[in-house]
Amino acid sequence: MRNSCKFADNYILANMSLKPKDNSPLQAADLLNNTSNRKLYIETYGCQMNVSDSEVVVSIMQENGVGYTSEIEKADIILVNTCSIRENAEQRIWGRLDVFRQIKKRKPDLLVGVIGCMAERLKEKLLEKEKLVDLVIGPDAYRELPSLVEEAGTGQRAINVLLSREETYADISPVRTDKNRVSAFVAIMRGCNNFCSYCVVPYTRGEERSRNPESILREIGELDEKGYREVTLLGQNVNSYRWGNREATEKLDFSGLLEKASVNYPGMRFRFSTSHPRDISDKLLNTIANHSNICRHLHLPAQSGSSRILKLMNRGYSREQYLDRVGAIRRIIPGCAISTDIIAGFCSESETDHKQTLSLMEEAGYDFAFMFKYSERPDTDAAKKLKDDVSEEVKTRRLNEIIELQGSLSAKSKEADLGKTFEVLVEGTSKKSQRELYGRTSQNKVVVFPAGDHKPGDYVNISVTRFTPATLIGVQEATGT
Ligand code: SAH
Ligand code: SF4
Ligand code: F3S
Repeated sequence: MRNSCKFADNYILANMSLKPKDNSPLQAADLLNNTSNRKLYIETYGCQMNVSDSEVVVSIMQENGVGYTSEIEKADIILVNTCSIRENAEQRIWGRLDVFRQIKKRKPDLLVGVIGCMAERLKEKLLEKEKLVDLVIGPDAYRELPSLVEEAGTGQRAINVLLSREETYADISPVRTDKNRVSAFVAIMRGCNNFCSYCVVPYTRGEERSRNPESILREIGELDEKGYREVTLLGQNVNSYRWGNREATEKLDFSGLLEKASVNYPGMRFRFSTSHPRDISDKLLNTIANHSNICRHLHLPAQSGSSRILKLMNRGYSREQYLDRVGAIRRIIPGCAISTDIIAGFCSESETDHKQTLSLMEEAGYDFAFMFKYSERPDTDAAKKLKDDVSEEVKTRRLNEIIELQGSLSAKSKEADLGKTFEVLVEGTSKKSQRELYGRTSQNKVVVFPAGDHKPGDYVNISVTRFTPATLIGVQEATGT
């Protein structure tokens, strides 16, 4: 699938090639040489993939002589990396664009660009409002950013929203903009072919494609050398990672990639997101069980507990099949945390369907969850074929019931940790006190504890003494003599 797009005459389309051009940054560097003191500020919304993409964007711009600033007032170029997953995600971005317009009034040379999923979804519509946006760039066109910025600098508005079948930005070393220098994201694939009926991602991100494993392992190696201790491998559906064509002597699937990463970098911890319940194999679960540096946490979004709704959502599994996978996780990886995403009030959802979601949550015993009200997205299958017929009031009530239930499940999960000892990777100093540090267990639970001599990047054994709704609280385990 490739999105086609129409361009109004006054928009510039730079470089329509679908293949990534190896030399494009160089060409663009020439264009930008005379403006080398310019600074880019980037604001990121949406999922971890967007966070990872923003780091690629900063890298591409730096290669082309545009520095990075974390202070908006110092920026010559503001980019907002956007999300279209729900209507309120887009509304938030429109609000930010209004704020940027005010800054632009004071600073007429400032360029404002919309990149990411909303750029891909709305395309030239984003350029319709006068003096709001100068650049619109979709997720597969970031290599063209420097030349598009240059074009926009001449007063014309620039757009490139072509999706690619091949682009994975494999050769680009992302510039890490995080503060803690402990954990990083590494994208292993892009796009999605699943077409869940409610979801905009296949349209904004295009076809699924896997990234060359060599470049993935090289990037992990670079992070290891820089002292990072945790890597999260990212994809919309990591379980369908595949490398190697039919003739290839060696084929690599996700569990193979994960195994290579964990064996090559034993000092690193590995996480990954997201696992599609339909594709999570026993082979992958065994790989996790066999390597202690692969975290004991699976994010396995259920979306609903009703097989009828799952079918309408085109999720490719029933309630029973989902619970079978939960059972396999519990059997093969004891002590593994499971989290989920739930959508409340999908098209035609009845009270019985909703109750099935609540009972699935209890059966699965989730450690944590992300919970949303269904938000119809234009042009998706659900928008075209189904009625968004659950009232706002009922959606809100059901969502509240889901949140309340998850609150008690999360509390139960933390309660079960009392008195146990966990290896915690320290991420930083606690917001509340300089004398406390926080970090995460392998199960992805946040733990706060007295700092002692420890620093971010250390692994510390912490015994859990109490918990709050958000965190576990503990002390360093006494070391025996
Ligand atoms: N690829 C991941 C999730 C991507 S989007 C996966 O398949 O699990 C993250 C979450 O947003 C989804 O899991 C879903 O729960 C939610 N979501 C997606 N589209 C939505 C919509 N139209 N309305 C409400 N929630 C939605
Ligand atoms: Fe969206 Fe489904 Fe793809 Fe996840 S798997 S990104 S929910 S279409
Ligand atoms: Fe949002 Fe795009 Fe991610 S729609 S959730 S930023 S892939």
